[in-house]
Amino acid sequence: MGLRNRWVIGNWKMNGSLAGNAALLGAVAAAPSGVGKLGVCVPFPYLGQAQSALAGGAVVWGGQDVSEHASGAYTGQVSAAMLVEFGASLVLVGHSERRQYNAETSDLVARKASAALNAGVTPVICVGETLAERDAGRAEAVVGQQLQACTDVLQRSQGAAIVAYEPVWAIGTGKTATPAEAQAMHAFIRATLRVLGAEADATSILYGGSVKAGNARELFSQADIDGGLIGGASLVATDFLAIAAA
Ligand code: 13P
Repeated sequence: MGLRNRWVIGNWKMNGSLAGNAALLGAVAAAPSGVGKLGVCVPFPYLGQAQSALAGGAVVWGGQDVSEHASGAYTGQVSAAMLVEFGASLVLVGHSERRQYNAETSDLVARKASAALNAGVTPVICVGETLAERDAGRAEAVVGQQLQACTDVLQRSQGAAIVAYEPVWAIGTGKTATPAEAQAMHAFIRATLRVLGAEADATSILYGGSVKAGNARELFSQADIDGGLIGGASLVATDFLAIAAA
C-alpha cells in the first residue's frame, strides 16, 4: 500500500462553463492537502483555464482523451504534446463512454496510452465490463483482455500508469459495486498486472462508478482500491472534496 499513490480524480465528462468552472476550480485548488493526490480531467477547451487556476498548487489536471498520433491530418483530435503544453499531467484513455460511443477498441486504447506515456503524461487506463458481460460470468475475462491489450504500456510505465476499474453498469446509474465486489475485481486486476509483467504493487488502481461522499470511505478502505475516478460528484465542489477527504 505504501508503494502506491492514492488518487481521487474527477472526470467532468462533457460538463462545465467558464463561469461554473472558475468556482469549482477555485474550491478544488483550495482543498486541504491529504494523504492522496487530487486531479481533474476537464474538457479540452478548459485545459488553459484549469492550468491558470491550478498551476503551482498540489492539484493536477488533464484531458479525457488523447490521439494515438503525434500530429497531422486528424481533424478533431488532440495530441499528447498539446496536453503537455497546457501543463496536463494526466489523461483518461479508454473510458467506457468512448469505447461505447466512439467505437474505441482495446488496441486503440493501448496506442493512446502509449502516446500519452511517450509524451510524459500519465495515462489513466479505464477498464470495466457491461452488465450483460457480468451477468454472463465474463467480467474478469473482459477486464483481463482490456488490460492485456495494454501490456506493453503497463510494462514500460513501471507502475506510473494508473488503472481505473469502472464497471459500465455502475457509471452514472447510482448503482455502485459493493466494496466486496469492487475489491474482488481490483485484486484480479492486480494479479493480472503481475502476470503481464507490470509493476503490480506500485500501480494505483482506482474505482469509478457512482462514487459519492457517502460510499467513498468504505470503497477506498479496501486493500486493492487506491482511490477513485469520480464523474457526477466531481462537478460539485463540496461532494468532490468530501470524497477526497475519504
Ligand atoms: P459517475 O461517478 O457519474 O458514476 O461516473 C463515473 C465515471 O465514469 C468516471 O469516469
